[in-house]
Amino acid sequence: MYVCVIGTGYVGLVTGTVFADLGNDVACADVDEKKIQRLSAGEPVIYEPGLEEMLQRNLEDGRLTFTTDIDEAVRRAQVVFIAVGTPPKDNGETDLSQVEAAALSIARALNSYKVIVNKSTVPVGTGDFVRQIIERNRRRQVEFDVVSNPEFLREGSAIADTLEPDRIVIGAPSQQVALWLLELYAPLERPMLITDVESAELIKYASNAFLAMKISFVNQIADICEAAGADVTQVAKGMGFDKRIGPAFLQAGLGFGGSCFPKDTLSIIQSAKRYGLSADLFEAILRVNKERIPRFLERIQQKLGSVAKKRIAVLGLAFKPNTDDLRDAKSLEILQWLLDQGAEVAAYDPVAMERAKELFPTVRYAQSAYEAADGADAAIVVTEWNEFKLLNLDKLRAAMRQPFLFDGRNIYPPERVRKAGFEYVSIGR
Ligand code: NAD
Ligand code: UGA
Repeated sequence: MYVCVIGTGYVGLVTGTVFADLGNDVACADVDEKKIQRLSAGEPVIYEPGLEEMLQRNLEDGRLTFTTDIDEAVRRAQVVFIAVGTPPKDNGETDLSQVEAAALSIARALNSYKVIVNKSTVPVGTGDFVRQIIERNRRRQVEFDVVSNPEFLREGSAIADTLEPDRIVIGAPSQQVALWLLELYAPLERPMLITDVESAELIKYASNAFLAMKISFVNQIADICEAAGADVTQVAKGMGFDKRIGPAFLQAGLGFGGSCFPKDTLSIIQSAKRYGLSADLFEAILRVNKERIPRFLERIQQKLGSVAKKRIAVLGLAFKPNTDDLRDAKSLEILQWLLDQGAEVAAYDPVAMERAKELFPTVRYAQSAYEAADGADAAIVVTEWNEFKLLNLDKLRAAMRQPFLFDGRNIYPPERVRKAGFEYVSIGR
């Protein structure tokens, strides 16, 4: 099938590459010329395990191309995916300007029947909005349909998630239109739900808000554990055995970050309000999340006193392991606070330091966790990279001048850390 993907970010790039790998002819189009140049040269532009090799293989085989000529890419395609960004506006509503621009490009290029697929996360009703834009701006009376096909991949495991999704949701105006996507996804042999456009749009927000709710829930439980002398990792484990609850997304920590949970929870609040409905539960999810970092920083201060002039090692910058994405990363809040308080900060992350250097040029960037900890008064684990779990804690302790280890992700067994001579603060234990 001839496929065009508009927007080559985390979602568009991975989706386009995987569709090419499944044997389709895929053109990925973007307005960012530099990005397109680098991608055309086989450079993956983001860190995502397995992406580089798949990208290069499909480029070489000629199934995958990158272009800024959106018109041409749309004209050739039978199915056009919209995978542009949908960031939040200041008032929490979703900014649909990139979606609108993509729909306008499609309208201008429309030359034969096409299925237009919204893969971006968009508020309920956006399918209709896209349809109207194309209808009003098409230059020829050519037919088209708009489908909602939300994306559920996670950064850090995006290729695996795309090849083996838990489900594929297709919101289409008719079975006949849905068949186009059924055919495209058939080789994956995964469960598919065919439904209407509005339900598909809401499935995405409901899923993200639910996962965010699990995280805020376990974080509130962690606070009770801390006060009561219980261990949240044990409590979560005990809860997770119940099939109705499940063990996933019950890891207490610094709260959820990243480009999606915060913005998507904000967006569903706005959708509820638009219909004059209560959004109390969704608002509580964000409120609890917002308290995580101030609470953690308070505990750091309780132990260290003022952090002014103290040397602090920050381990992990990316919003989660296996990505270089810093959008809404907890590290940004922590770094800003440390710098505002006058601390001397050394940071280390296996892949996200280049991006962080642009945001925090005064931080010292180390080549390893040990180097960051050299002469430090305290180390703070912000991202649970595997390599931090495997650190030699005796060596880490020996490098530091004071023994404080603040673990925002509960990656160590407390006895092991204390045996290495650390004063250890983790979450809800
Ligand atoms: P991103 O910001 O990484 O990428 C968006 C891309 O779209 C950029 O390369 C940008 O240059 C391009 N773009 C913007 N306007 C354009 C236009 N008019 N024409 C062509 N290209 C244009 O975004 P992302 O993280 O890939 O997210 C895309 C969408 O997918 C969002 O709605 C997001 O909520 C959703 N989503 C993201 C993830 C994730 O893990 N990142 C997972 C599921 C769903
Ligand atoms: C999340 C969803 O998991 C994807 O299904 C969805 O497609 C995506 O958002 C999206 O819509 O963009 P992602 O943000 O890449 O994916 O990463 P997650 O693994 O979900 O983690 C999000 C945040 O929650 C991270 O900050 C992580 O540290 C935090 N988290 C996650 C916890 O604090 N505890 C947990 O138990 C799990």
